[in-house]
Amino acid sequence: MKIITVLGARPQFIKAALLSKELRKKNQEIIIHTGQHYDTEMSDIFFKQMNISAPDHNLEIGSGSHAYQTAKMMIKLEKIFILENPDLILVYGDTNSTLAAAVTAAKLNISVAHVEAGPRMFDKTVPEETNRIITDHLSSLLFAPTPGSIHNLRNEGLNEGIYLTGDVMFDNFKYFSKNAEKHLKILKKLDLTKKNYILTTIHRARNTDSIKNLKIIVESLLKISEVEKIVFPVHPRTKKYLKKHFLYDKLDKNPNIKLINPVGYLDMLILTKNAKKIITDSGGLQREAYFAQVPCITLDKSSAWPETVEDNWNLVIYGTSEKITQSALHFKPNYTQNNVFGYGNASIKINQLIEKFLNKEYPLHDFKDDSFKEYINLRGN
Ligand code: UD1
Ligand code: UDP
Repeated sequence: MKIITVLGARPQFIKAALLSKELRKKNQEIIIHTGQHYDTEMSDIFFKQMNISAPDHNLEIGSGSHAYQTAKMMIKLEKIFILENPDLILVYGDTNSTLAAAVTAAKLNISVAHVEAGPRMFDKTVPEETNRIITDHLSSLLFAPTPGSIHNLRNEGLNEGIYLTGDVMFDNFKYFSKNAEKHLKILKKLDLTKKNYILTTIHRARNTDSIKNLKIIVESLLKISEVEKIVFPVHPRTKKYLKKHFLYDKLDKNPNIKLINPVGYLDMLILTKNAKKIITDSGGLQREAYFAQVPCITLDKSSAWPETVEDNWNLVIYGTSEKITQSALHFKPNYTQNNVFGYGNASIKINQLIEKFLNKEYPLHDFKDDSFKEYINLRGN
């Protein structure tokens, strides 16, 4: 069977690493990279370090507004989907690449499988929320990472094709932890000692594109750095806005704050596991903090991962720099965790479910409208 996997952004490369290997045991997998992320340290490094097969197609879409980026992806994806004529399109998470692939596939009546279906922030001003909702409603297979995700999907009236699989992020966290030890040298390189620094990442539009919110975060980090060392791999989006508002140097000149370029997954695992605390707005890092049992402070209005908050390992803060500083310095989690992200075998489970689906052991859309092919040929695209 032929499966097309569409990837585009950093967290999707990470999520796909192990499932891609599973899929390839019995199927032909074709990877399309939309080119949403393109810097070496946002893309290539993950394919190399995590041994992910090189993309068969790179659409080289690059950056742009939501509509521009998504529309350009859809036009190019449509052509490849028709040419490749796959049995299934596989998408991950909540980016514009996810949305573009799901909508394009649905319009061609090709079945869509969504890894990480169901998490919700209940806030439609967050672009990722729209991407998730639309993708879930267009998917035939919805692989939910947590019981809470299933609950959310049912509340939206979805009942078919939903499976509790666990979180593929946990699979990768467990698997690559085995290889990460040789990356311990990153601590030495950054002059850090174990459990003696705070790891920070920030990239959400709400935090970066609003000068007010960005200033609050910078102010908080400066205050926290009076007490703790901070290491901050800076996302390119964040770097752009920090520089634009002359905030980058304020952080960079502080001897207790280390601004670094984004790092590969194995270095990031070491930085995560050995951190004293994590301050982030990243969905992935909130979970990895939980897996590593590192207290996490999430700078946002809500979390797509309420399980980590309910277990009291993740504190969601949105407010003044005073509030953020106090929370970051004093937050202490409980020491019990509920096992809500599965057992690290989500990729195996998902592969098995896909296998059954493709062998028609589950209902599937069998209607494929060939007139789309003619339309594309006529346009000469
Ligand atoms: C995207 C996803 C977000 C995900 C994040 C992971 C959407 C709507 N958002 O956000 O869900 O959490 O990826 O990191 O899809 N840039 C570079 N080099 C790159 C990539 C980006 O310089 O390789 C800069 C560009 O200035 C670009 C900006 O970062 O405009 C934002 O990139 P974009 O992919 O649009 O959104 P992210 O913030 O990365
Ligand atoms: N990550 C990484 N290097 C970095 C920053 C993050 O490898 O410099 C990893 C992080 O460990 C997690 C994933 O990237 O696995 C999260 O991606 P990101 O924060 O970009 O997106 P989100 O999870 O918020 O969608």
